[in-house]
Amino acid sequence: MKQKKRIAVMISGNGSNLQALIDHQDSLGGEIVLVLSSNEEAKGLERARSVGIDGICIDSNAFEERNMYEQMMLNTLEAYEVDLIVLAGFMRILGAKFIQTYANRMMNVHPALLPSFGGPGYYGERVHQAVLDAGVRVTGATVHFVTIDTDAGPIILQECVRVHPNDTIQLLQKRVLEVEHRLLVAAVRLFCEDRLVVNKNCIEIVGMEE
Ligand code: GAR
Repeated sequence: MKQKKRIAVMISGNGSNLQALIDHQDSLGGEIVLVLSSNEEAKGLERARSVGIDGICIDSNAFEERNMYEQMMLNTLEAYEVDLIVLAGFMRILGAKFIQTYANRMMNVHPALLPSFGGPGYYGERVHQAVLDAGVRVTGATVHFVTIDTDAGPIILQECVRVHPNDTIQLLQKRVLEVEHRLLVAAVRLFCEDRLVVNKNCIEIVGMEE
């Protein structure tokens, strides 16, 4: 029998995407072995600990240099023998060494249709604000592998969400989050089934009928 993939989820806040993964653990083909938070107050830490998953906070403010902070995270991930990292609302930009160590083994969920409304400065509610300001009719959610260029890595899954005339940030965020939860669970499952083949900036999903 194939070994289950060992998954670490990195968060900074509420952790509703983490919750979606926890709720589907039995069918993921992988096991969430660690939740790493950049913030001790993150509700996601509580969500993890309440179901017996190790939840650890590593606060960047406790380190003089970013290198030291990232090395501490790398050491922790290595100790847990992690196969896949999921960035699920992790609000820090990671450095080259960290990203290279987990090349094609670290995915991120983003609350828009990349490459639109992505890159430095586009995170959380700011993304939905930018979508409303731009007057676009369609937004969505994207799950992609993380590369050095922020929000520009190979796209695993994407789905549209309509923008309604009277939308607010909160209404839009709620509808986009529902899609994020579904896409993230599906993307992690594909990874755990070894069905993601990366070819330059494109991903072939083995066995997926387009
Ligand atoms: C999600 O909408 C996620 O896509 C976004 O933060 C939210 C976290 O929600 N991430 C980014 O904007 C990263 N660029 P959650 O904590 O409830 O999962």
